[in-house]
Amino acid sequence: MPAADANPLTPFYAKRRVTVTGGAGFIGGHLTEALLLLGATVTVIDDLSNNDGAHITALAETYGGQLRFIYGSILDPTALAESMTGAQTVFHLAAMNSVPRSIDEPERTFEVNATGTVRVAEVARRAKATRLVYAASSSAYGDDPALPKVESMLPKPLSPYAASKLAGESVVRAWAHSYGLSGISLRYFNVFGPRQLAGDAYAAVVSAFITKLQAAKRPTIHGDGTQTRDFTPVANVVHATLLAGATESADGQPVNIALGRQTTVRNLFDTLARLIARTDIEPLYTPARKADVPHSVANTALSEKLLGFKPIKTLEDGLADTVAWFARQREEFDEPVAKGVTGA
Ligand SMILES: NC(=O)c1ccc[n+]([C@@H]2O[C@H](COP(=O)([O-])OP(=O)(O)OC[C@H]3O[C@@H](n4cnc5c(N)ncnc54)[C@H](O)[C@@H]3O)[C@@H](O)[C@H]2O)c1
Repeated sequence: MPAADANPLTPFYAKRRVTVTGGAGFIGGHLTEALLLLGATVTVIDDLSNNDGAHITALAETYGGQLRFIYGSILDPTALAESMTGAQTVFHLAAMNSVPRSIDEPERTFEVNATGTVRVAEVARRAKATRLVYAASSSAYGDDPALPKVESMLPKPLSPYAASKLAGESVVRAWAHSYGLSGISLRYFNVFGPRQLAGDAYAAVVSAFITKLQAAKRPTIHGDGTQTRDFTPVANVVHATLLAGATESADGQPVNIALGRQTTVRNLFDTLARLIARTDIEPLYTPARKADVPHSVANTALSEKLLGFKPIKTLEDGLADTVAWFARQREEFDEPVAKGVTGA
């Protein structure tokens, strides 16, 4: 992001009262930091169900009274109302964010992602917020073979996660039309970057590959590695999200946020192995996972037209930043660097 004084978004966000749901999370944490740098007064609500809170604690120490953290669920009416008192702009990112986990816990996924979005929209409208920006998902497109994915395609969610995130989009559109709550749904495509969780079975692929390779272990590829994704650096997603909060009008429509570049999972693996200097490691292949879609790449014309969005980082720059961050983490926590190659 450009320095705050040179950033054209500073006049809009400086002193603006903003609420970020899920602001302790991976994308929410980057967004919150960017908003603080722009001079906004930020309230974060997060139940820390998918986060240890370390980053938000560090931000609170740096930014003092400019940041208020509410430890609570968006499903708790009191905590939610408190988080939005006086909010002018609301960024709604809190969600259960995993396809495999949604298959294990479909009802809980709907409660948080769909009912949770109704609650956020209701409280935002009562608080007279002027914009609701919703973190939607490219999973809405499902396995429709047509590429690139364009917003006018009929959605075809295949997992409870995708269905619940699409339900959230419907809420944003309906609240815009029924109550005049200006909203926009940003369909993020496979976001990656520093601080994305790497440690569990639900980890996103970039973090999972990096941590295994840095530990000299073999990463797992589900399927044959020919599946493609539009891997998007988190810096681009934050930039697009800030533009969406500031754009003049928004009537609840969905907009793709991506690089617009199709990369195979095997290709991603090879690029990371080169960056980490571990081209001696081969991945382990396991059967494809249920509800994983074979191919995905975005048409990004609408984000450029509506938001003036252009990517600020390339895929390679984003991967290099992420590798460097994970390497620093390993140094800081003094993890032993294994010499040989072990199993997954
Ligand atoms: N990461 C991606 O590639 C991607 C792609 C498409 C869409 N999205 C969407 O972007 C948003 C952020 O994703 P992320 O990758 O940063 O995930 P994340 O899990 O790091 O962030 C979500 C945050 O929401 C919090 N949370 C969960 N349930 C909550 C509740 N009931 N009340 C309050 N807080 C709650 C979690 O503790 C976490 O900090 C999500 O809405 C996700 O669906 C992400």
